[in-house]
Amino acid sequence: MIRHIIALIATILAAGAFWFLAQMDIKSERAKLIADIIEKTKMEVPNKQKSMVTPIKQTQSVTIEDKRKKEEDEAQKKLKSLKDRAGSAMAFKVSPLYKQKCSSCHGVNGEGIIGPKLVGLSEDKVYKDLQDFKSGKRKNYVMYGLLSKMSDDDIKALSQEIGTFEQKLNSTK
Ligand code: HEC
Repeated sequence: MIRHIIALIATILAAGAFWFLAQMDIKSERAKLIADIIEKTKMEVPNKQKSMVTPIKQTQSVTIEDKRKKEEDEAQKKLKSLKDRAGSAMAFKVSPLYKQKCSSCHGVNGEGIIGPKLVGLSEDKVYKDLQDFKSGKRKNYVMYGLLSKMSDDDIKALSQEIGTFEQKLNSTK
């Protein structure tokens, strides 16, 4: 009886081993198939790329290069004209305070952009204007906002500086 059981177990084990090996075989067969497919695509794809894709890529890279060069040239030109304009506009040096707070609207030398021209205004006139803006007597939100945080010393210094703009401009001509 025990022998029979052992024989049965041995048979089952043998069958299991056989099945396992068969599975391995299938797997390796599949692996080989996949390897074959990969090998084939490896052979074909580079050929296609060489005949079709590469020339397109080349022409593309050439046009991109051209475009970039053009853009660079244009940027260079713009920068140059900007520098030229800044150079001619900047006729004389101004204080850092004026440059930082006022030049964006009134111009680097008070020639006027968004804000009115300041060249030619006397120190007294500018000082009065600024005080009127600050007190709200003369209503302008931009100037008020700017001056409300500015000390009287700075306002006085700016007025004095702007008062000299015309003479400075004339002396550079
Ligand atoms: C954001 C823009 C802007 C900035 C920055 C600015 N201003 Fe003005 N400024 C104006 C405008 C706009 C007016 C005209 C307001 C009006 O007439 O009601 C003006 C008017 C003036 C006037 C009166 C001129 C006139 O003939 O009536 C003076 C003076 C002046 N600004 C000085 C300054 C000073 C000094 C600074 C720097 C502290 C300054 N502004 C900064 C926009 C600006």
